[in-house]
Amino acid sequence: MMTVHDLETPCVLIDMSIMENNIRQMQARCNLLGKDFRAHIKTHKIPQIAWVQVLTGAVGIACQKVSEAEVFADAGFDNIQIPYNIVGERKLDRLLALAKQTRLTVSADDLAVVAGLASAAARHDTRLRVMVDLGTTMRRTGAALDQIVPTARAIVQASHLDFAGVLIYPSTADNREMLQAALSNLSDAGIAVESISGGGMGGARDAELMPEVTELRVGTYVFNDWNSVRAGYCAPDDCAMRVRATVVSRPDADRGFLDAGSKTLSSDTDGSGYGHIVEYPDARIVRLSEEHAHCDFSACQSRPQVGEIVHVIPMHTCVVSNLHDHLIGVRGQDVIIDWQVKARGCVV
Ligand SMILES: Cc1ncc(COP(=O)(O)O)c(C=O)c1O
Repeated sequence: MMTVHDLETPCVLIDMSIMENNIRQMQARCNLLGKDFRAHIKTHKIPQIAWVQVLTGAVGIACQKVSEAEVFADAGFDNIQIPYNIVGERKLDRLLALAKQTRLTVSADDLAVVAGLASAAARHDTRLRVMVDLGTTMRRTGAALDQIVPTARAIVQASHLDFAGVLIYPSTADNREMLQAALSNLSDAGIAVESISGGGMGGARDAELMPEVTELRVGTYVFNDWNSVRAGYCAPDDCAMRVRATVVSRPDADRGFLDAGSKTLSSDTDGSGYGHIVEYPDARIVRLSEEHAHCDFSACQSRPQVGEIVHVIPMHTCVVSNLHDHLIGVRGQDVIIDWQVKARGCVV
């Protein structure tokens, strides 16, 4: 059997036992709370992993982009949510082609978005499920509270749209009052809400505090990353993704360079660095150039030699998956599977 020692660096390893444990635990948590679980595939973009999530109990998947959803529909997934405003005629045509193929749900936060969905669905003579996206304290997309009823009403009144409920991201406890107000307004307007889909790692953490949420949509939990550790969502041992890298230069006592730069680890950072080196927990990755991680080993008792192999828990696992053609599933030192990142680069 091939082992990790046979792999060239850099490469991205997934500890399958940790991943399976993460999948089991999240599903068990949702089961206990009586919430549906929906796996957001943006973290791995690999159909085989999504099947594990569905076979463990997920009601379906979420994809962030139409092109991702196309890959997963082709792989046989039949309950797909796209929590995203789909805008533009070509994209809408593709969306409706997909809606003919699978049970598809999208979200909308604006009357103009609903109008585009409504006319595309009518043009294709195909029904489309649409949720209204409620804005949160994150201040990303999402309708303001006073726009929830008009947006939902436009969905209800469109000949080919079915109102599928309220979507909220992230469904953290600080958004509960707003959600309650939105639900109360919808109820006063006589609009029935079938499902309330929340999400994100913070939403999973706060799930007990958000009884209104009927479905949790989470992605990062499957691998976890250094951001998740820093946010207190998980422990380092819960991180399934490790970038295997080689120390390729040690120009002086404190500095070292790994053969994994921004094209491998991504430039995402919260300002604290670019990942955690498992073997040298006191080291810091202070900078990335395209093919080098610039490491500061000054706080470490022992320091690596040129040629030494190290493993980096990346800051943001989802963007790392999107940078690689393959992720390698391992158990201990054994290489078990080479997954193709099937929806890699699907951002359209
Ligand atoms: C709409 C939506 N839902 C769910 C998620 C998954 O969140 P997380 O990566 O925290 O699991 C994201 C992530 O960006 C998102 O944008």
